[in-house]
Amino acid sequence: MVGAPDDTASIGELLSALRAVAEPTRLRLLVLCSRGELTVSELAQILGQSQPRVSRHLKLLCEAGLLDRFREGSWVFYRISAGNPASALARHLVAACGEADPALVLDLQRLAAIKQQRAARAAAYFRENAPHWDRIRSLYIDEREVEAALTEIITAAAPGDLLDIGTGTGRVIEILAPQVGQALGIDQSREMLAIARVNLERAGAANAMVRLGDMYQLPLPDASFDAVVIHQVLHYADRPAAAIAEAARVLRPGGVLVVVDFAPHELEFLRDEHAHHRLGFSDTEVADWCAEAGLDPAPPRHLAGDPLTVAVWASYRRPAIRIEAPAAAPAGEVLQP
Ligand SMILES: C[S@@+](CC[C@H](N)C(=O)[O-])C[C@H]1O[C@@H](n2cnc3c(N)ncnc32)[C@H](O)[C@@H]1O
Repeated sequence: MVGAPDDTASIGELLSALRAVAEPTRLRLLVLCSRGELTVSELAQILGQSQPRVSRHLKLLCEAGLLDRFREGSWVFYRISAGNPASALARHLVAACGEADPALVLDLQRLAAIKQQRAARAAAYFRENAPHWDRIRSLYIDEREVEAALTEIITAAAPGDLLDIGTGTGRVIEILAPQVGQALGIDQSREMLAIARVNLERAGAANAMVRLGDMYQLPLPDASFDAVVIHQVLHYADRPAAAIAEAARVLRPGGVLVVVDFAPHELEFLRDEHAHHRLGFSDTEVADWCAEAGLDPAPPRHLAGDPLTVAVWASYRRPAIRIEAPAAAPAGEVLQP
């Protein structure tokens, strides 16, 4: 994890990282990859350079431990490194760059345009498919098994307030509403919300409501829910770690976050035909993101299907620690860990 004491770099590691980044294009690549997970072709488009040239720069940055590279089917993504000795240096360099340099201003504008294209593609898909979503997802796996696993975790947590991020047609709220005090669904698609409203009314879920919102910037206060669910949404995210951190922010101490998504797979058509950004997630990366967000991951559950396996990752928000107040201080002061 970033900044942990055993992640400090040796002089040799620092010098090779500094040498690798001491070139204008490579510094720009570092800044861009700190803003999201990007492919070589996207980076080449932003920088206005050829793909082989950009690939060579990326290779050097990866070898120096400043970037992480991961392959998903035919796509290779790059992101700023986490959990290796040069990670802290990478983040310091990005912070030191600021955003005022004219080259970076242009890079970030082009990056914003690329993200907008991705978002528009996903939004168009959702608009076209909103009425049929329930049918489409039933093609992948038997949803009843997943719903039973999710219900078991939420029932054990007995939440007062439940948040369903990326609620879609409202199915998760529909099954969990009887187990909770109040349920709120958030989604960025008005079409999906329109369908969810109809479904929840039909199901008689009087304790449930849905609202427009973005999972990266939830329009909700800190520590306001006992349980948060992200069900089959994360594979659309270009910043899954940020989505998890935002979910953790609104979770009360002791509360549970349940992420349900696919285990790593190679079904490229889900990307081409269904706008999936990620082809599943490994247990380790989800556990790392949750731990970085202040959550304690429980052992994952895998529900094997053909060909897709669904994973259920539950994590619990670390409780606030009550520190015995010294004689002079006000009693009952609560400090966050
Ligand atoms: C595959 S559907 C899953 C819906 C629901 N969770 C379920 O399992 O039935 C994914 C949903 O995530 C929503 N979504 C995608 N990106 C989002 C974002 N940035 N903020 C909020 N919702 C988002 C989409 O609009 C869509 O309704």
